[in-house]
Amino acid sequence: MDRRHFSQTILKSLISLSLMETLIVNDLVGKKAKPITDHWAIRLNEMCMDLRKETISQTQWQQQIEALLAQISLEDLLSFIDFNKLIKGFEFPDLGVKTKGVRFPQLEGLPENLAFYRKIFGVKKGRAIIPHGHKNMTSAHLVLQGSFDLKHYDKMEDQGSHLIIKPTIDRHIGVGDYSSISDEKDNIHWFKTTSDYAFTFDMIVLDLNGESYDIDNIDLLAGEKLSDDRLRVKKMEVMDALKKYGKEHH
Ligand SMILES: [Fe+2]
Repeated sequence: MDRRHFSQTILKSLISLSLMETLIVNDLVGKKAKPITDHWAIRLNEMCMDLRKETISQTQWQQQIEALLAQISLEDLLSFIDFNKLIKGFEFPDLGVKTKGVRFPQLEGLPENLAFYRKIFGVKKGRAIIPHGHKNMTSAHLVLQGSFDLKHYDKMEDQGSHLIIKPTIDRHIGVGDYSSISDEKDNIHWFKTTSDYAFTFDMIVLDLNGESYDIDNIDLLAGEKLSDDRLRVKKMEVMDALKKYGKEHH
């Protein structure tokens, strides 16, 4: 390599090094000055607005919200909703669950009236969020504390007094895990608490398809087995459902 070529090569390396440094510095500055519109609560509200406006489908909403929940730092979420304050003196019911509304703090870019409802669900060991299906609503559920045995089913057909359903999810879930329901996918769910105490954070969009939302409690264990893994299950009155599924009987 002659001297001139050598100097040119050095000069090129210096320029690219300096350019790289500039990029790194800019990136760091960029991260520090991250626009507030990036906050997960704003994105969450936007996807719920999109669902209400039907610019995304219910299944797309499920995909988007689950992708978001996979990214959010649990620590950040717990402090954002002031979880410790929410559960102070929380009284767990003997049967089923107790819920409590969640308020988000004021945040630039986040409207006062949000497009979705927020609640925590608290459950004791051996109790359950009883098996039920939904109409005209979607919801997503993030485990904040404890663990559950979780089952989901697709709703294949509503026969009035009965539902035809098909199992889709059957797994043990713990802190940071999440699931979601919609009219289109994994419509029925059943959470059985396996830890002493457990909490989920629920994000709920009601009254979709221009209709009022509804909930059908079902007698899953008495379901009639059909072909292709399907089950025919009877709808139940809420008190009967709570008696049978709200608490484990040994
Ligand atoms: Fe539900």
